[in-house]
Amino acid sequence: MIFIKKLYLTLIACCVFCTGLYADEGMWLPYLLDQLQIVRMQSMGLKLSAEDIYSINHSSLKDAIVIFGRGCTGEVVSADGLVFTNHHCGFGAIQSSSSVENDYLKEGFWARSYKEEIPISGLTVQFLMFVQDVTHDMLEGVDEEMPETQRDSVLKINEKHILEAIPAQDGLGGVVKEFYAGNQFYLFVYQSYKDIRLVGAPPTAIGKFGGDTDNWMWPRHTGDFSVFRIYTSPSGKPTTYQVNNIPLKTNRFLTINAGGIKEGDFTMIMGYPGRTDRYITSWGVDQALNITNPSIVKIRDKKLEIIRNSMATSDEIRIKYAAKYASISNYWKYYIGQNKGLKRLKIYEKKKQQEKEFAEWIAADTYRFNRYGEVLDSFEQAYRLLNQTAKPSVYIREAAFGPEIIAFASRFASLASTEMKDSKDINAANLHTNAKGMGDSFFKNFDLATDKKLFAAMMNMYYNDIDPGFIPNILSNANKKYKGQWDKYADEVYEKSMFSSMEAFSKFLLNPSASSLKDDPVYQLALAFREISRKIEAMNIQAKDQLKRSKRLYMEGIQQMGAGNPFYPDANQTMRLTYGQVLDYQAADAIEYSYFTTHFGILEKEEPSNPDFQIPQRLKEVFNRKDFSPYYKNDTVVACFLTNNDITGGNSGSPVLNGKGELIGLAFDGNWEAMSGDIAYEPELQRTINVDIRYVLFLIDKYARSNHIMRELKIEYER
Ligand code: ARG
Repeated sequence: MIFIKKLYLTLIACCVFCTGLYADEGMWLPYLLDQLQIVRMQSMGLKLSAEDIYSINHSSLKDAIVIFGRGCTGEVVSADGLVFTNHHCGFGAIQSSSSVENDYLKEGFWARSYKEEIPISGLTVQFLMFVQDVTHDMLEGVDEEMPETQRDSVLKINEKHILEAIPAQDGLGGVVKEFYAGNQFYLFVYQSYKDIRLVGAPPTAIGKFGGDTDNWMWPRHTGDFSVFRIYTSPSGKPTTYQVNNIPLKTNRFLTINAGGIKEGDFTMIMGYPGRTDRYITSWGVDQALNITNPSIVKIRDKKLEIIRNSMATSDEIRIKYAAKYASISNYWKYYIGQNKGLKRLKIYEKKKQQEKEFAEWIAADTYRFNRYGEVLDSFEQAYRLLNQTAKPSVYIREAAFGPEIIAFASRFASLASTEMKDSKDINAANLHTNAKGMGDSFFKNFDLATDKKLFAAMMNMYYNDIDPGFIPNILSNANKKYKGQWDKYADEVYEKSMFSSMEAFSKFLLNPSASSLKDDPVYQLALAFREISRKIEAMNIQAKDQLKRSKRLYMEGIQQMGAGNPFYPDANQTMRLTYGQVLDYQAADAIEYSYFTTHFGILEKEEPSNPDFQIPQRLKEVFNRKDFSPYYKNDTVVACFLTNNDITGGNSGSPVLNGKGELIGLAFDGNWEAMSGDIAYEPELQRTINVDIRYVLFLIDKYARSNHIMRELKIEYER
């Protein structure tokens, strides 16, 4: 491993000295920031030291940056545990607190006191306590020749030992993550807070202004922020919600800088990017381009159409499906964009070229030939096998479990174990407590008519698009019986199933029996699709092992070859730092975008008949008053701005920091021209879209008049 570390340093050196070539691509590990990187960052405008950013022994910037919920980033902005994140990250919480009477999605929400802050059950905020290189411990007992399955079980045992050493107290928990395709391992220890409350959110017409039309695109005018607070027990410990909990007391929070931005300003973003595939091979690109992505898009097209039509019929359904719709739609558009980008930027061809260079590098040396000689062929072989089931795999995930009723029934699948012959074998007490809660939260956001339409459409699609070998009997039989009239089939299934309403489900819970479960048509479907999924898994064991091994070797090889990109590891939901600057871009021939948008653009985009572009009356009034001071730039307020930081999904809500480590914006999106960015970074094109902190402050202060929030913030007005 040592040589890899050394190489890592030389590669950083290389990227630092050829900055023209490599730009400032990279999601770096803030705990491994190299002196050369710091020097480079300081030359661009950073005023801090590495120790100020990440320190084990002292408090540092990283202490103010949190994992928000399951897939976002947030930052602490006050001594009383106030947290900023994106509106789209708080969306689920805002949605679940909303009702037709208190429609916070539509009207926004602003707590006027601690008392009015809304506890959000299930929401967590996690602080990173420390990071440790555990590569040596993880690889104990692993040898090069062992089969992947055996390697995995050794890794699992080692991981267990590592995690056992973490004290089970104060909300502490650890996770071991692999880096560089399993060549390195790090332990991350987090402290998790479970009483998180909603403090403020603008209306969707502000927080999601531009909607799906503008999503993943610039120019943007979205006030994509929301405000939460972390609560602790009276003694300051993490705990679940209790009435007498108090706001988190902390001295690590970000200062806000409302002095404004200029082109070329140094910027740095810290947060939790979820996943990138920057070292994927041409075969992987081919699979995404030709099988996976088009399948996802096709299925989601249909789902979105159905849900959209339902949502338009009533406020109740609109509120129920708002968050579900947003999450399906976000990555629907993502995959459309990714395919466009992959084609336009010729990523497949570029990967082929890199592989050709790799093959030449291997051929030039016997050691290399012995170690890496088979890697590329092995990729090709593995993908050829995996491609045979790539489409059914997507269809299982997206279509078969698309109707929520099937996904819900599937959660009870373990009850169908072979030993379970009658009601005695169902643990009734357990069912009552767990299942009742599961049912309550499931049916809260469920509309039978909508789901039934989804069911008919998804079963139809699955049956017609997938090879017979992957179609469960129950589905073929239904096709015969209903002669392809899937809506008739849906009628019968939803009529009979106990998973279609809370009433039917509660009835079952009163008298749970294995036989009624096994007779349920939705339950049967869920089991049948799980069976297909297992069949696919079994078919792929070897190919997957081969792929894993090839990736690990390939990574080691290109790391040695050193002639490629700078060597940061792929994103894996661990804290990363990306540095760069405020920067515009040229989107296409004759299309030059400037790096910021203003309130004028919001007014220009207004379209009263289009839900994506409505402006709340009150916002118009506040704009008309032109009372932008002290958040102004001339006679307007800056809404959003661009930087060339390297981020991805999971970074949403991340703080954009200036050279002093002060908060100047919140990252919330990427741009359309570089949607293939998770696979290949394009320095000329790739930008991060941020909401300017001045727009956030303007909205909290002038629009919401929330003194409750304003008085806690620490704001600098000098750049
Ligand atoms: N594309 C953004 C992301 O994945 C989400 C933006 C949410 N806005 C929207 N209109 N769906 O981080």
